[in-house]
Order: sequence, then structure tokens, then C-alpha cells
Amino acid sequence: MAQFWKPGSEKPRPVILDDEEGGVLFFSAAPSISGYGYASLEGQRQRLPVFKHRTAILYLVESHATTIIVGETGSGKTTQIPQYLKEAGWAEGGRMVACTQPRRLAVQSVATRVAEEMGVKLGKEVGYTIRFEDITTPGVTMIKFLTDGVLLREMMNDPLLTKYSVIMVDEAHERSLSTDMLLGLLKKIQRRRPELRLIISSATIEAKSMSNYFLPRKKRQEQASENGTPSTQPAILSVEGQGFVVEISYLEEPAPDYLQAAVSTVLSIHDQEPMGDILVFLTGQDDIDAAVQLLTENAQKRGKHSSGMLVIPLYSGLSRADQDLVFSPMPKGKRKVVISTNIAETSLTLEGVVYVVDSGFSKQRFYNPITNIENLVVAPISKASAKQRAGRAGRVRPGKCFRLYTEEYFVKEMPAEGIPEMQRSNLVSSVIQLKALGIDNILGFDWLASPSPESMIRALEVLYSLGVLDEDAKLTSPTGFQVAEIPLDPMISKMILSSNELGCSEEIITIAAILSIQSIWVSGRGSQKELDEARLRFSVAEGDHITYLNVYQGFLRSGKSTQWCHKNFINYQAMKKVAEIREQLRKLMKQLGINLKSCDKDTQVIRKAIIAGFFAHACRLEPFGQSGVYKTIRGSQEVYIHPSSVLFRVNPKWVVYHSLVLTEKHYMRNVIAIDPSWLTEAAPHFYQLQKPNPAMF
Ligand code: CDP
Ligand code: MG
Repeated sequence: MAQFWKPGSEKPRPVILDDEEGGVLFFSAAPSISGYGYASLEGQRQRLPVFKHRTAILYLVESHATTIIVGETGSGKTTQIPQYLKEAGWAEGGRMVACTQPRRLAVQSVATRVAEEMGVKLGKEVGYTIRFEDITTPGVTMIKFLTDGVLLREMMNDPLLTKYSVIMVDEAHERSLSTDMLLGLLKKIQRRRPELRLIISSATIEAKSMSNYFLPRKKRQEQASENGTPSTQPAILSVEGQGFVVEISYLEEPAPDYLQAAVSTVLSIHDQEPMGDILVFLTGQDDIDAAVQLLTENAQKRGKHSSGMLVIPLYSGLSRADQDLVFSPMPKGKRKVVISTNIAETSLTLEGVVYVVDSGFSKQRFYNPITNIENLVVAPISKASAKQRAGRAGRVRPGKCFRLYTEEYFVKEMPAEGIPEMQRSNLVSSVIQLKALGIDNILGFDWLASPSPESMIRALEVLYSLGVLDEDAKLTSPTGFQVAEIPLDPMISKMILSSNELGCSEEIITIAAILSIQSIWVSGRGSQKELDEARLRFSVAEGDHITYLNVYQGFLRSGKSTQWCHKNFINYQAMKKVAEIREQLRKLMKQLGINLKSCDKDTQVIRKAIIAGFFAHACRLEPFGQSGVYKTIRGSQEVYIHPSSVLFRVNPKWVVYHSLVLTEKHYMRNVIAIDPSWLTEAAPHFYQLQKPNPAMF
């Protein structure tokens, strides 16, 4: 195999250790699922492990306010349970069954599948809602998939979520920030709506602690049973798995570069192992695109047709066509290689996977309340995740998992469980949402896992400095309430609201739309030089945000042309999405009673509006020493302009950035050049130039 891969796999080593020790992996083999893929959809449905529990599930939901369902990934929880509920009449009389997911892509994918199984058009009886995309029909939709974040937002207009008879909070083991908040709030709603049913489902969960969380105080329980209302004691149901044995191999020496290691492992599997699809877990779009490119180049070198390998990326933000490709079966003799983020860990099941390559990493959010910096960092996964990843290889027949780390590392160093997102996130958005829902005592909120007081206090401080909260930590009117209404980061929302006063809201909502998608540039095509030249055509000295405005105006002038995008290395799909999001924001502004105004290219007011939201992200170029080093004004954190910015190497003296990424250094992404006097003008409470130091200007 690959050079660094010293095969313990020569003599296959099915590591069947005790689960507790973290060795992992015995999946009981199901008798046979041969013919899978040829059976009718109905046949497939009945073969899923949850089917055996259909009656039990319906009984438990009928008789319990909360039902916890634990079942291995692929057992049919997400796609089947909402259908059972609908079949049992829970979606009649204008009520809906909701099923939440932490990820947008999973929402779209499962909704599509369920519509197909039910033989209905997506958006009718079965629909979905993600931010800026509502594919449902009021009065018709009975099963609605949505992100946990969207359901939280719905509470602002309908605090008791009266549209829903049953809410299934799926993938609860992920412990996403929104899921944790949702669980706390749903618990409150249950007290006011005893007829509401909750299902909490997950692949792995400490069902007991979740159950305790939902256990109400004794008194209530006695009252409830007297009234003949459903038992408030949560029910727990476990669905057995259906997987096959997965044989685990480890590296004998740590890999210096997981990307290279993953690529050569895929090639070795392809050369040496029998047919079967390969699923590779990397961390994000960057390393996934790089791996896809390396593998595709390699396949081309071998000759297109002889290689027999189709390499497909899988991450959020993927176009519809690419998504479909991930799920479509391969022609005989061809091997599918899916390079994925941890979305394929439990949210999506890919049939046909026999080999899993696990890098041991994923992208995770980390927040430091001292510096107020939140980063997406490539960080080691937990044993629980590693186990889930390996399990993906055992769906259709016994499989193999290649872990790109050593067994010693796995046993001794890998943490058993991940840390809930709540405890490693910036809480600004959460705090504002709770405030908008009338929950004032945020520290006293019944959290599943309490966030740190430092993060809480920092969030309150940020919101106060944005003018969203007043001195009593109440939402200000109208700013605070308006910011809460806009489904974007509060700093962006503040920027949008300020653009109204400054008369540049037309421009600012375009910028907000572009900032809310990953990137408008194409990746993986052409040389860096070509890409840079294309960017240069739009670049302006004021910075990235204004450059984006030029791109958007060019796109409109071209009549939203695909050729124009292609020629300029701009991602057409991304631009289409930008136009859609912009339209949604325009409608939202109308609802908030804000008239859109254009400043007609007065970039100074546009930058002032950006500063109104992002003044806390101001940095100054270090006057002496190594060039290109900036320091944040609050916190003195050393930062650099990201190479993808149009201001890279331009290095204006004063800048404001949109976000930071941490690789080997802290890089500022999306940067504008500013005049420092705008900072004190926009946020005198935040920046006081008491003793102006002449050297600073
Ligand atoms: O939620 P859970 O992991 O328990 O399973 P599921 O997502 O309901 O998946 C049940 C079955 O539906 C699996 O065999 C999936 O492969 C299949 N499925 C599919 O073919 N296409 C989708 N978009 C989603 C699920
Ligand atoms: Mg699922």
C-alpha cells in the first residue's frame, strides 16, 4: 500500500475490542439484504430495522409526551418515522409533523427521498424549509423537514409552534447549538401544550441523561396522570442495527499529512481491494476539493476508462446535480469514491460503501471568549465519531475501515465524546434569540449543557455594544427587535439596519447576500494566475465587499449569464443563490418597513454601514517590524490579510474584517480599508481615542 501505510492489514486485523475501551466495532450481521436497490421502494421501506418497531413507536408517541429513539445510522429513523406518524393520522386537521436536522443538505436530501417514497411532488405533502428556501405549501404539507435553526426562528412568530402535532428532533447526538437550544425551549412549550409530542432521535445518545432532562418535576407528573393526559415520563426505544462486521486498520506511524495519506490510501484500496464504494472523511471544502483533484488527476494519468473510479465531493453548498450524483448507483464495474465532510457520518446514508477512510479530523467551531474570536478549526474527532464513521462501511456487506492514525492514538488520546457546540461557540445569536423569545434570565435557562459564563457575558457585551440590548440587557426598540428578526449574524443585521440610515441599503443587502454564501469564485479550474487575473478585473482598493458589488453588478449587466460567469471564474450557482438570498432580504426589509435606497457607488457610506456592524473587527497595520502584520484594536491579536482578499499585499493601514480563519496564522477574510475616524464615529462607546498617539495616524 502507500508508503506510510505499513499494513497491519496484510493479516487482516478485525479489532473487536470491548466497546468501553474504545476499540469498537462489532456490528451484528443481518441475514441478507441481497437485491437491495432492485426492490420496490415499499419493499425497501419494510426491510429497514425501524419497520419492526412501527407499532411500538406509534404506541409510545401516543402515550408519552416525549419519546427517545436510538438507532444506528441507516436504520430508517429519519425517513420512516415521519411517514409512520402521517399514516397514523398525526398530520391531519391542518397540523404537521416536523423533523429537524442540524444540516441544510441533510434536510434537502431526506425530504427528497421521503417525497419519492410517498410518490408525491416535493413541496406538496412533503416539504422542507432551510434558511432562505421554503419548499412547502401551506395547508397541503403534512411532513416538513427543516433545520433546527429554522424551527427556532419559527418560534419568534409562533412561540408555541402550534402548527405541529409532533416534532422530531433528529440527530440529537450531534448536540448542535440550535438543537440544544431547541430542546430547552421545547421542554418549556410542552408545559403549555400537553398535546404536543416530541421525538428525540439519534444514532448514539446517552438516552438516560436525555430522558432525565425531559423528566418533569414530580408534582406535574402526578397531576398529569390524574388528568389522563399522556405520561410525561419519557419513553426510550432502541432500534437494533443491521450492519455487518467492519474490520479496522490503523496506521503504524502517524501520518504527517492526512490529505496525502487519504489520497494514497484510496488509490491502494482501488488497486488491491475488491469492488465496493469508498467513503473518505476529510474536513471541509478546501481539502475535499484538493483530494478530488489529486485523485482525478491520478485517474486521468491511468487513462480515463481503465481507472474505473468516479470521485465525487460531498459538502454543504454543493449544487443539486452534484448531490444527486452522490446518491446515484454506479454502473457495474465502476467504483464510487465519495470525499465528504462529517455530513456522511450520521446525517446521510450512502448505500454501497464498503471502505471507509477516516482522516480522524473534522472542522469544528471553537470560540475564545477572552479574545472574542470564533474559528472553524480542523480538530481531532472523538471516539464516538470514529465509531460512527467506521460503521458506514458495513451497510451492504462486511467492510473495512482505514483509520489514518495509530491505534495507540485512538486508545490513549482520542477523546471519548465531543464537546457540545454550545460550549465552544460564540453565543451572540443564541442570546438574541432567547431574548426575542422573552427569556430574560439566560444564565438561569434550563440548558442541556451549560455554556460558560464568560461566553455568556461576552455575548451580552457584544450585543450591548451593537445597541441591540440596553443597560438592563433587554432588547432595544426598534433596533434590537429588528436585528432579532433578520435571520443573519447580528453584526450583519446591524450593518443592514444602519445602511438604511446611511442610504445604501440596496448595496448592503447585496453584500450581505454574498457574505452569507461560501465563495462566489470557482475553485478547482484554471491556474492560480488565471484566477487572480479574473479577480483583478473587479478589484478595488476599498476592499473585498466593494469588489463583490462590482461582481454582482457585472453579473446583472450580463443578464445573469452563465458564459459571463465562466469567463470570469465566477461560480454561476453561487451567484444564482446570491440573487435569491438578496430577494429574500429585500422582502424582509419591506416587512420591517425599511425602504431600499441606493447610494450610487458612494463607497464611503457603504464602508460606514459595514463598520456600524463590524467595528469590533477593526485592525491596524503594525507600523514597525515585519510587514503585513496587523493587530486587532481590541485585544491586540496578531492577524494577517488572507491571500484570497483583494487587499492581500496592498496592506492598508486600517482595516475591518468580516471573519477570521485560523490555519497556521489568523487570517482575515473579506476585508475593507477604512478611515479610523469612522470607528469612533460609529462606535464612540467602544473606541475612545483618549490619548491619540500621533504615530497611529
Ligand atoms: O435516519 P437513519 O440514519 O436511521 O436512516 P434513514 O436516513 O432514514 O435512511 C434509511 C434508508 O433510506 C437508508 O437505506 C438510506 O440509504 C435510504 N435513503 C436514501 O436512499 N436516500 C436518501 N436521500 C436518504 C435515505
Ligand atoms: Mg437520520
